[in-house]
Amino acid sequence: MKRGELKILFVASEAYPLVKTGGLGDVLYSLPHAVHARGADVRLLLPGYRALLRQLEQVRIVGWIDVRGAEGIDSARILETRHPDYAFPLWVVDCPPLFDRPGNPYVNANGQDWLDNAERYTVFSRVAALLALDSLELGWKPDVVHAHDWQTGLVAAFLAEHPERPKTVFTIHNLAYSGYFPHGDFVRLQLPSHWWSPEGVEFHGGLSMLKAGIVYADAITTVSPTYAAEICTPEFGYGLDGLLLSRSYKLHGILNGIDTRLWDPHTDARLPAHYSAARILPGKRRNKQALLGRFLPAVDDAMLAAPLLGLVGRLVEQKGIDWVLAAIPVMLAETDARFVLLGSGQVSYEQKLTRLAKQHPDRVFVEIGYDESLAHLIEAGADMFLMPSRFEPCGLNQMYSLRYGTPPIVYKTGGLADTVVDADEAALADASANGFVFESPDTAGFLDAIRRALELYRQAPRWRRLQQTGMQQSFDWSDSAAHYLDLYSI
Ligand code: ADP
Ligand code: GLC
Repeated sequence: MKRGELKILFVASEAYPLVKTGGLGDVLYSLPHAVHARGADVRLLLPGYRALLRQLEQVRIVGWIDVRGAEGIDSARILETRHPDYAFPLWVVDCPPLFDRPGNPYVNANGQDWLDNAERYTVFSRVAALLALDSLELGWKPDVVHAHDWQTGLVAAFLAEHPERPKTVFTIHNLAYSGYFPHGDFVRLQLPSHWWSPEGVEFHGGLSMLKAGIVYADAITTVSPTYAAEICTPEFGYGLDGLLLSRSYKLHGILNGIDTRLWDPHTDARLPAHYSAARILPGKRRNKQALLGRFLPAVDDAMLAAPLLGLVGRLVEQKGIDWVLAAIPVMLAETDARFVLLGSGQVSYEQKLTRLAKQHPDRVFVEIGYDESLAHLIEAGADMFLMPSRFEPCGLNQMYSLRYGTPPIVYKTGGLADTVVDADEAALADASANGFVFESPDTAGFLDAIRRALELYRQAPRWRRLQQTGMQQSFDWSDSAAHYLDLYSI
């Protein structure tokens, strides 16, 4: 197959800037573009959430598809649209009873999963499979369907029923979310009964949509080489390690890239000042001033000189927020460091962080919520970036922070281990160091790494060199897009 002729249908539950809850959304923007830029003919299929539909301007109805839902037939309109941020057409599954609702794609206003998630993503996957078979006779039949995370795990399973079908690739962005539903949903949704076995979609008596993707896809990828190895072990495998190990012949670890047009301190439109590796100050300092100025009435030179440690992320156990909560008071007592944290997620973490900020209003700044612009400003304005994830399939924030001259402090796991080189003496000497990595999964390990970072921060020339190493690295999609294209073409 010649690459230029490859037709690829991406299927996913989110994509920047239309709908994004985390790194999945970033990747579903940047990977299809990277593949498209290398000559592939691409479509991206998304659910028609209310917030997404509101952002679309010129929409064409290309057809109607009726599929089995939980109670009866669900009817979906298939929309095609051109979006100014997208170089290729988007397809949208418009099914109001399932997707026309406010807020987050996966959870309601109280943070609980939408009760009909099994139906929502089964219907979405059924429609995706039919479009992949060109059942609407649009004259566009993909060679490859590339589905992402549990929400689209059933796509490969539905397609496996058809002899004349495209190749299926399934990417695991996070094994911790498995799309696990009771057997009753499997019955109600009238999924093929021969799928119901430990060799199929059954997992501990329930339906695992993630498992469906792993079992039925022709190829499985995950988002870093280290995570690909980790998920084949009991510690990271969530009970699927045995299955993944048995499928290692089709499992590939491909590191995510980042979109270097959206994330570039030299051009980033969300920043008050620009800078590059050749001239970090004063641009970075002006961003720091703007960031501090958001939270403090006045910013003096002493505040600008004191280290500022940033964090952006989902406030969930994965991200090591409990270590952050334990480390901050120690650092406040020991040093003159300040902290700026942006995130949302588990209510208990939100409350504890908010309380900490109230106790230390001039040194701990917390913003609960989702704010794309503030995320960019923290990457640029902080001196160091905290990312002590317990596990991290890839992680994009540490790559953003490297590019923004904000050395990350990370736990040695998954994509963090693949991208951050610890500033030990040897790595500092050969200029390969770009951040701080700790190997002991506890607060003491994290604190030790922060202390090392603060010590190096006081040595301006060495610190500058560390920043420059990260800023000069290329985390763009070139290598990884080529890797995916190889996989599609086999
Ligand atoms: P994950 O996908 O596990 O959340 P990643 O590091 O891969 O972690 O990607 C997180 C993405 O989501 C980044 O683009 C980050 O800036 C963004 N993000 C996470 N939380 C927030 C938030 N509260 N406000 C703005 N952006 C956020
Ligand atoms: C997931 C992972 C994160 C990864 C992102 C994009 O949300 O938690 O590590 O970077 O997907 O692949």
